[in-house]
Amino acid sequence: MASRQKLIIDTDPGQDDAVAMLLAFASPELDILGITTVAGNVPLALTQENARKICDLAGCVDMPVFAGADEPLARRLVTAEHVHGSTGLDGPVLPPPTTPLQEAHAVDFLIDTIRSEDNGSVTIAPIGPLTNIAMALRKAPDIAERIGQIVMMGGGYFEGGNITPAAEFNIYVDPQAAAEVFAAGVPITMMPLDVTHKAMTTAARTAAIRAIGSKTAIAVADMLEFYERFDEEKYGSDGGPLHDPCTIAWMLEPEIFSGRHCNVEIETGSDLTMGMTVVDWWQVTDRPHNAFVVGDLDADAFFRLITDRLARLP
Ligand code: RIB
Ligand code: CA
Repeated sequence: MASRQKLIIDTDPGQDDAVAMLLAFASPELDILGITTVAGNVPLALTQENARKICDLAGCVDMPVFAGADEPLARRLVTAEHVHGSTGLDGPVLPPPTTPLQEAHAVDFLIDTIRSEDNGSVTIAPIGPLTNIAMALRKAPDIAERIGQIVMMGGGYFEGGNITPAAEFNIYVDPQAAAEVFAAGVPITMMPLDVTHKAMTTAARTAAIRAIGSKTAIAVADMLEFYERFDEEKYGSDGGPLHDPCTIAWMLEPEIFSGRHCNVEIETGSDLTMGMTVVDWWQVTDRPHNAFVVGDLDADAFFRLITDRLARLP
């Protein structure tokens, strides 16, 4: 096996975050250095607890989990209980977490880890608002040239927004943080709604996960059946978009995705378009490319990967 990819997942669980974490836990190609949590789908007190519950579910009780920012850099926190339920992880009934919460702040863990690991060796996968990442870059600008890559879920272009007509949730919650991260010069792979809206759970795909029959798989199926009702009622779709696991799947099987290098700017001024990701997909400006923007995937291959890997968990 090639050397394992070192990874920190920054997350606001969230059912789709849970599947991303579990996919990573089930993949020996990845060396997960820690999980950092941020306020987003639900407040930080719940996102950190949910992350620890997900570690318990996978039997990863030694996984270092850190609490980070409890509010955006410069805006009031907006949450998404309407999508994820009051706990943020509605669906299965999970026991209180046993995986401990680390004392250190998530931002300090990010900085210390990037400084201590080999230069360029660590991937950060933010799958919630980018507050922790921006705070780390502000506190330690030297890490920008040491981070290997950022593989993030957020934004949208052809698909517009999901929390406003113009903005996707992760970017909308903290647009200032997103603007600073996209301007930091770190190699970024962006998984926007344009690709995640093609990664739909569907009843058949959820049933295939449930058919694995393990504790973890049944809990995931329960999560998805709760989570997808929002999109089914809102869009009349069959299932819901499985956003966050696209980042981990890209690290494992990049060939199932396609995209192009683009310039991406973030709206931080207008109330009407606050948090919009302005993607120069057609290269109509000479703005520098700052992200590889993913637009499509092989959805069957994506769900095959997720199902195969979930089957490895208890
Ligand atoms: O817009 C989708 C994103 O917002 C996902 O990361 C989901 O978990 C929520 O955080
Ligand atoms: Ca998320």
